[in-house]
Amino acid sequence: MTTPAHVAIIMDGNGRWAKARGLPRVAGHRAGVEALRNAVRAAGDLGISWLTVYAFSSENWSRPKSEVTDLMGLLKLFIRRDLAELHNAGVRVRVIGDRVTLQPDIRNLLEEAESLTAGNTSMNLVIAFNYGGRDEIARAARRIAEAVERGELSSNDVTAEFLDEQLDTAGMPDPDLVIRTSGEIRLSNFLPWQSAYSELVFLPCFWPDFTREHLAEAVREYTGRERRFGGLAERDIAL
Ligand code: IPE
Ligand code: IPE
Ligand code: MG
Repeated sequence: MTTPAHVAIIMDGNGRWAKARGLPRVAGHRAGVEALRNAVRAAGDLGISWLTVYAFSSENWSRPKSEVTDLMGLLKLFIRRDLAELHNAGVRVRVIGDRVTLQPDIRNLLEEAESLTAGNTSMNLVIAFNYGGRDEIARAARRIAEAVERGELSSNDVTAEFLDEQLDTAGMPDPDLVIRTSGEIRLSNFLPWQSAYSELVFLPCFWPDFTREHLAEAVREYTGRERRFGGLAERDIAL
């Protein structure tokens, strides 16, 4: 199989990375931002056109207030510091997740990143921020129900293809490969609809330790997999 067009990463293990070093959790999140910078460059070098990263989940609000504040601050810092470089490298930035409940300054920064880079074509970086798959589907369902109530849409129009186009990821290809670091073997509400047929790779390393070699290793693992999408492999189709 060829290089995956879309790789999605659950960047997990910042807290445990910090704990193992006797550092506060925020130090792990800071080191995680550095790993993200490297991952974007590495993905570009590997010819990956879409990179989606899980940065903050709709459930992460349940963490202590100080950690939530740290994570919001780091997102702002990342956009302020890295936006120019991403733009120069031809990266188009997109954000998925619920924006309505975010602070206006964060919302404005995310919108600035999207509008500045909207014309870029070398690579797409999708940041999942305040993202949860169930919340995404519920928001889409609500918008569809409102359109039906207004008489603009018939219930018969609500097909899987139609629903797909109402999600935050409308217009994006499904992830071919989903990687999770830190050894946890679960998706934690990350792209449940879109990853229906994705290949999953779980790596034991904590996110701050993730290097371009880890990405290359996950891609190698992916290329050895056989994707069938419910059909049959070419060689098993009886002549
Ligand atoms: C991932 O690292 C970053 C976010 C969830 C924002 P964690 O903070 O979940 O680190 P662990 O899982 O506690 O080690
Ligand atoms: C998923 O990791 C969210 C992000 C990486 C942003 P979590 O650390 O929040 O997931 P759980 O709680 O271990 O399932
Ligand atoms: Mg975690």
